[in-house]
Amino acid sequence: METKVLPVSKDSLALASSLLRDGNLVAFPTETVYGLGADALQPEAVRGIFAAKGRPADNPLIVHISDRAQLTDLCEIPDASLPLMDAFWPGPLTLLFPRKKTVPDVVTAGLKTVAIRMPSHPGAAALLRACGLPIAAPSANRSGRPSPTTAAHVLADMRGRIPLILDGGSCQVGLESTVLDLTHGKPVILRPGGITQDMLEKVLGCPVALAGSILRPLGEHETALSPGMRYKHYAPQALLSLVQGEEENVLREMRSRCLSDREKGLHSCVLCFHEHMETLRECSPHDLGSLSRPEETANRLFDVLRVVDEEGMDTVYSEVLPPKGMGLAVMNRLGRAAAFRILQADSAPPGES
Ligand code: TXA
Ligand code: MG
Repeated sequence: METKVLPVSKDSLALASSLLRDGNLVAFPTETVYGLGADALQPEAVRGIFAAKGRPADNPLIVHISDRAQLTDLCEIPDASLPLMDAFWPGPLTLLFPRKKTVPDVVTAGLKTVAIRMPSHPGAAALLRACGLPIAAPSANRSGRPSPTTAAHVLADMRGRIPLILDGGSCQVGLESTVLDLTHGKPVILRPGGITQDMLEKVLGCPVALAGSILRPLGEHETALSPGMRYKHYAPQALLSLVQGEEENVLREMRSRCLSDREKGLHSCVLCFHEHMETLRECSPHDLGSLSRPEETANRLFDVLRVVDEEGMDTVYSEVLPPKGMGLAVMNRLGRAAAFRILQADSAPPGES
């Protein structure tokens, strides 16, 4: 199958809409990451998403809408969700709702809830309006690869598997939406993203909990609140390790590990903040953006993970951010990409203490 890549325009939106109505897949830009869409109400079309991604069937999808009126056919609407929709839709917040029978099992992996969001990206909004369908869409990467933040990333993973990619430039947020569960009484963030815990608490006027597995691997006998948390994710082929501790110790540890791996004949590099690029210049550093702007790190992270794979790195050492605000979303993705391999760089090297 030939995969067309077209800029968002009246013509490409018409083509995308007719493909979607006929049960085909279309990749499209959103403000978070690119999505791989199908008509949410056509089970056969939705099964195509799982096949194209190589995604396990028990990992449910997010349904995208452009108008709140579309909710009525899909789910019950708890009162607690109203202020959140007022404050954050359209935007990078996904809410879980008690589902109605119209939503096919294949979308929700048989769960009683359906995840829904209204994207703010003009290309996504235009597509949703043009086709008038609720669109089920996971991130448009092959399962296990970093989520795509450009049309080129989508093409690298989906060439020959889907007929059309709408190119809307690079995604503004760069990490997937915040997923919030309100269906069990007290609100719980299942996946952190651009809408932070603080922002949600301000609107709800009550504490918002974090799912346990956000900053650590899921225990062997623990059930995932969000099935996606079970799977290895965003995993580069290189062995990625995170290095934490006092800044000076971290930089020294990263440099020494990288150079010693190279002496063993390995390809090794580092991911560091802009402010540390010069200090780590011998280690082929990749720029994670400024230490003081976690939004910049969020925006670059998936691209950087793809680049280290293209470079054929064996080992990669990365700095970390405080897990607060957008830093929590960054550390969730980085932690999982590293399978939570965290090195502590606290002590001074021998002879210096
Ligand atoms: O920003 C985003 O959310 C992007 C764009 C394309 O909208 N989409 C995205 O979809 O990241 P995906 O499929 O890669 O991630 C969806 C996450 C998964 O972790 C999944 O397990 C969870 O949402 N999820 C979906 N439905 C759920 C449900 N009913 N209950 C719990 N978790 C659910
Ligand atoms: Mg995904």
